[in-house]
Amino acid sequence: MKIKRIGVFTSGGDSPGMNACIRAVTRSSIYYNISVSGILKGFKGMIEGEIMDLNVRSVSNIIQRGGTILKSARCKDFYHKLERQKAYDNLKKNGIDALVAIGGDGTFRGAEIFTSEFDIPVIGIPGTIDNDLFGTDYTVGFDTAINTAIDAIDKIRDTAASHDRLFFIEVMGRDAGFIALYSGIGGGAESILLPETKTDIDDIVKMLKGSGEKKKSSNIIVVSEGDEEGGALDIAKKVKAKCEGINTRVTILGHIQRGGSPTCFDRVLGTRLGVAAVERLIANKSREMVGLLNNKIAFTSITKAVKCHATMDNEMIKCAQITSI
Ligand code: F6P
Repeated sequence: MKIKRIGVFTSGGDSPGMNACIRAVTRSSIYYNISVSGILKGFKGMIEGEIMDLNVRSVSNIIQRGGTILKSARCKDFYHKLERQKAYDNLKKNGIDALVAIGGDGTFRGAEIFTSEFDIPVIGIPGTIDNDLFGTDYTVGFDTAINTAIDAIDKIRDTAASHDRLFFIEVMGRDAGFIALYSGIGGGAESILLPETKTDIDDIVKMLKGSGEKKKSSNIIVVSEGDEEGGALDIAKKVKAKCEGINTRVTILGHIQRGGSPTCFDRVLGTRLGVAAVERLIANKSREMVGLLNNKIAFTSITKAVKCHATMDNEMIKCAQITSI
């Protein structure tokens, strides 16, 4: 089938670099003589018919901007078949015959159901700060998020050292600890608590009480928001109860990790994946996620990308343990 008009949208949690993807999808579509529409607010805008034409100039001056010019939303209505039918009707009304979905696992699940019900090809681009999708070494936005996190960790370390304090710093990642692992290693954290590994409060207490030259006067513990023992506030409380008189503070980095100007890595990644997604649609492929494996463009079925979930690298966990003694 010859594609005439591609619809591009961003959905779920926004991530820095999404604009680079939108720009690349738009410009490569036009380069290959395909028209392109932007669907606002993800699946929500698809249902409500919030769709606009994009041209070469509508994506000027956005590669350096965080967020997404197409806006994003988490859309519960899309769980209902009737709403999905409305979305399909709107796409047809606008002449859209193929989709590029930029987002995380929730976006891909929605896209997969949609493409299995209606005759419309979809290619996914991994856009999430969490880096938790199988089939790509990096998701768009992860690099910016970890750089935002280590910038904050460096600043907190200055004040932690001045006051001989223990800081618990909570980073994002509901089900995945990649932001915590990378920012913890890069920020020189004394301990990194991940949803993927067991957290033992007594081990933390033992480390803090330390002895001899191993005892540190200030400490940084990076906590992934999805840790089994709770968030940074809960864990700080549990540790405090076992370390009398310890001087602790908690910082929750929150949504600053989702914003900001994307790093060069995320801009280049977003651009490469955007072009590859359009070329994949032209090759009549569907239900795939385009990713980067060993610095080469790679394709994975959307089902696998979502189901298999990216796995933690044991070598990195070991590095974190060895270098934090
Ligand atoms: O999926 C990305 C993410 O930023 C997660 O790391 C975080 O748990 C979640 O989104 C927060 O979502 P919301 O902005 O809807 O609260």
